[in-house]
Amino acid sequence: MSSSSSLYKQLGLGAGSPVSASHLLLLVLGAGFLALTVFVVHPNEFRIQSFFSGGCGRPGTDAATAAVAASPVKNVSGGASDAAAATTAARSPDDDVRVLIGIQTLPSKYERRNLLRTIYSLQAREQPSLAGSVDVRFVFCNVTSPVDAVLVSLEAIRHGDIIVLDCAENMDNGKTYTFFSTVARAFNSSDGSGSGSGSGSPAPPRYDYVMKADDDTYLRLAALVESLRGAARRDAYYGLQMPCDRENFYPFPPFMSGMGYALSWDLVQWVATAEESRRDHVGPEDMWTGRWLNLAGKAKNRYDMSPRMYNYRGASPPSCFRRDFAPDTIAVHMLKDAARWAETLRYFNATAALRPSHL
Ligand SMILES: *[C@@H]1O[C@H](CO)[C@@H](O)[C@H](O)[C@H]1NC(C)=O
Ligand SMILES: *[C@@H]1O[C@H](CO)[C@@H](O)[C@H](O)[C@H]1NC(C)=O
Ligand SMILES: *[C@@H]1O[C@H](CO)[C@@H](O)[C@H](O)[C@H]1NC(C)=O
Ligand SMILES: *[C@@H]1O[C@H](CO)[C@@H](O)[C@H](O)[C@H]1NC(C)=O
Repeated sequence: MSSSSSLYKQLGLGAGSPVSASHLLLLVLGAGFLALTVFVVHPNEFRIQSFFSGGCGRPGTDAATAAVAASPVKNVSGGASDAAAATTAARSPDDDVRVLIGIQTLPSKYERRNLLRTIYSLQAREQPSLAGSVDVRFVFCNVTSPVDAVLVSLEAIRHGDIIVLDCAENMDNGKTYTFFSTVARAFNSSDGSGSGSGSGSPAPPRYDYVMKADDDTYLRLAALVESLRGAARRDAYYGLQMPCDRENFYPFPPFMSGMGYALSWDLVQWVATAEESRRDHVGPEDMWTGRWLNLAGKAKNRYDMSPRMYNYRGASPPSCFRRDFAPDTIAVHMLKDAARWAETLRYFNATAALRPSHL
């Protein structure tokens, strides 16, 4: 018992984790060798947490019937047509890549959304072309707290960047599946573009890629767009591929880390309609996405962005997924607190525009 709880501490599943020590012990004892192996050999706290919260999940919602929630909060089509967000894409006539980024978060995380909005709108100010190619949205399931319903509604009116899915809040109970399938329907018609493109050949989809990202991931949008620009527009799966070494065991390799991965639009459509994903979407969301694609022989074009996507290292030893900052970074994950965000933003010169006298 004590060895389990010290393991628990060692692995950094601290306050804020939905899994309690005793709960975890029960799971470890109950889940058998496979789960134990995953647990013991995997040094990535997030992965362990998501594996177990998937294992003990509530009955899944039937996400195949996912629709935009009829809540007081703006729904997906409303949010997308509201051009108030700092990074709202106006469909540009040129062939540049267009990306929808859905940051999975919780209604109550106001402070984190505020930080991320500030960061990404400043990136767009620095690189004006980003506004035409990237839409950043915050994604959560039904808002159940009456307090959040009011406060989140204000945010949605002000920023127009919130997508509410028809699901009960969960991490590994199909939220990502609901996200992809909701987006696949909501943005399926290319007339959602707003700009009247000429008729003739079929209009391109509104987005070339849809990315799922965590709210503790820092994205450098210009680097992301630049790398996607050169990637295939079809059958493409982009991110940090796991496992990236022989020490870490996963039951269904390979897959792109949940820190942030993108699917080309045809694969988003495929996920929304395939039997593989409809039947089986309860599990660690990132591994499951890889699993559907692997089982169906999909995603022939895979882009492993290692070493440009990685976890924050801090005092931990470096590994193939945990690194020091580097100038060509696309994404840094595991930014769990303000100190880590500050360190990251300082390294990437996010505050350089401020004249020294203001400090
Ligand atoms: C979403 O919002 C739009 C505009 O407010 C509305 O026309 C549409 O019916 C809504 N859809 C759903 C599913 O609530
Ligand atoms: C989400 O909210 C909508 C509208 O209130 C409701 O119809 C739907 O059943 C809810 N879904 C879940 C999974 O709770
Ligand atoms: C998107 O539209 C196409 C063409 O109308 C249709 O075949 C497909 O099923 C739609 N996708 C979704 C997820 O509804
Ligand atoms: C940040 O700015 C410094 C000073 O101009 C520069 O040397 C460094 O390369 C910049 N760092 C990044 C990640 O761009």
